[in-house]
Amino acid sequence: MFKIAVLCSGKSRGSNLKAMHDYFSEHKLPVEVSFVIRTAKIAPITEVCESLDIKCYHIPYKSAEQFEEETLDVIHSNGIQIVALAGFLKKLSPVFIRDVAVPILNIHPALLPNYGGSGMYGMAVHKAVYNSGATVSGASVHLVDSNYDHGEIIAQKVVDLKDCILPEDIAKKVLAAEHSLYGKAIWEYLKSIYS
Ligand code: GRF
Repeated sequence: MFKIAVLCSGKSRGSNLKAMHDYFSEHKLPVEVSFVIRTAKIAPITEVCESLDIKCYHIPYKSAEQFEEETLDVIHSNGIQIVALAGFLKKLSPVFIRDVAVPILNIHPALLPNYGGSGMYGMAVHKAVYNSGATVSGASVHLVDSNYDHGEIIAQKVVDLKDCILPEDIAKKVLAAEHSLYGKAIWEYLKSIYS
């Protein structure tokens, strides 16, 4: 069984967590989400974890050093093979990325390398896409390095924006694309590095 850990913040709704969990179980894949780590005491993702019977650890982000040290302990003591970010908004340090010693993936709600970087999360991304007049957007899964939304892109899904009237319409369409992309991308990546 491949073991993955999911990191998220207080804003995470847990919709990507649920989508990846459903993808692994519907396809009977040997992948388990061993636990979720959340930085916020109260976060909607706790309810999703309860419904899926996934442990949800609260590690407050008092400082980068303290958060990363505690997170490394939990990841290492559970034999995690991939860390997946889902709405995790903090930058991870080069030391953490080195010491965790397993790949860290992230999903971003746009077609990187465009519309990424500091401040580009949530509706800010979709408003920027909307204001640019782009006719397509999409979702990107990439390896995490110590710059926001910057590491190697491993999977993308494009969506057509023809029928989108508002930035909220783009958000809805892109989120659906994320749900069909992340679990599959994690599985393909796991196979490519561990087989
Ligand atoms: C997603 O839009 C993802 O692209 C971004 O954070 C959001 C998390 O949403 N990195 P959810 O918690 O999975 O619903």
